[in-house]
Amino acid sequence: MLRAPGPDQQDVEMAHPGFTPTQLAARAAYLLRGNDLGTMTSAAPRLYPHMWSWDAAFVAVGLAPLSVERAVIELDTLLSAQWKNGMIPHIVFANGVDGYFPGPARWECRLLAANAPDGPDTSGITQPPVHAIAVQRILDHSRRHGRSTRAVAEEFLNRRWADLVRWHRWLAHARDPLGSGRITLYHGWESGMDNSPRWDRAYGNVRPGDLPPYRREDVLVVADPTQRPTDREYDRYLWLVEQMRRARYDDDALSSTMDFAVEDVFVTAIFALACEVLGQIGEEYHQAKSDTRELFGWAERFRAGVIATTDARTGAARDYDTRLQRWITTETLAMFAPLISGGLPRATESNLLRLFEGPRFCGHPDLRYALPPSTSPVSKDFRPREYWRGPVWPVMSWLFSWVFAHRGWAERSYMLRAEALRQASDGSFAEYYEPFTGEPLGSMQQSWTAASVLDWLG
Ligand code: SER
Repeated sequence: MLRAPGPDQQDVEMAHPGFTPTQLAARAAYLLRGNDLGTMTSAAPRLYPHMWSWDAAFVAVGLAPLSVERAVIELDTLLSAQWKNGMIPHIVFANGVDGYFPGPARWECRLLAANAPDGPDTSGITQPPVHAIAVQRILDHSRRHGRSTRAVAEEFLNRRWADLVRWHRWLAHARDPLGSGRITLYHGWESGMDNSPRWDRAYGNVRPGDLPPYRREDVLVVADPTQRPTDREYDRYLWLVEQMRRARYDDDALSSTMDFAVEDVFVTAIFALACEVLGQIGEEYHQAKSDTRELFGWAERFRAGVIATTDARTGAARDYDTRLQRWITTETLAMFAPLISGGLPRATESNLLRLFEGPRFCGHPDLRYALPPSTSPVSKDFRPREYWRGPVWPVMSWLFSWVFAHRGWAERSYMLRAEALRQASDGSFAEYYEPFTGEPLGSMQQSWTAASVLDWLG
């Protein structure tokens, strides 16, 4: 079981010699201000100097308690880069900023893709659809303010409602080509969990062909290469980009030509949840009934898609590799997709919660903090320092704590929050942490880590 301390602020302060909550919140706000490029916040100052799609949503969650107006600008910038088919691209490139590979010259979306936007340069893939959660947080915060701030949030919703629905419609159609009720990804980066062991076999099927030469920039920023994906992995990432370029990023062409095509159960669960959340927002703010009906319909269909992958006893979910036509069973965060989507029978859901809180995950006796590692410490695939193969990602702790609160599990949500704040009180706002020692890893001053802290303390 979780070994979190009691849920009061004092415990958080006393459990770690680091910063107090007040100091931490001030530093997090200062960090976001420092990473602010004007109308977008870089995901991290050196490693990720542009806007990333799901980072931007989490950043908006963190900005909302500071300034509803600024949070709205963040989502507006992202949505201004939406593709003509409805896709929100995974990167919106900041003008004139170098230092990240693959940059716009490698993707060449404007040249190759009929659907690329006329505005900013973007990548040609997508990322998990967490944006509805950000919209909800913005609306929630706006209600604590006077009429003018409320008007900014509501005007944003009215102006962007159709774009948000279009985004969801694109996912439901273009990314469920088989009608399985699960979202298909054509690149591991689309999962956000780039090198998770979930994708090892699928990448085993990706055989880089004639790959134009390239030079990695990430390993120049994160000096210890063992904290990043390997060169072998990067060859595959870049080969998939090459395949997409050759298909001119066309949705139909991708579904038949890509070496990598997986149904991601975690993204699917996020999508089901996001459809439910956006549908509720639509009802509350009197958007078109036909839209909310469609959203609730997708929520149901994709929730069922998640549940259809689960183990009848444990409730653990699986991804599906549509190229190799086999289920992907790994002990990673993806197992817990049904906790995000909902839909499990009560008894099975209790079993899955026990798994989440038990010794294979948050309750592992050697963990420094009772937080979910990206891969189970008892899995043969576990690597405690290597990106999505083991480290604890604060933003994932935030997502689960938000979802648990949303599901009405206040105490569980609070325990994750308390542990995550103990972890964050080192003040590094790291991208991820070594689960046993609590050592901060990857990029420091990661915007979404600061945003998570701001929401928790807000
Ligand atoms: N996370 C990827 C990177 O490390 C891209 O989205 O660059």
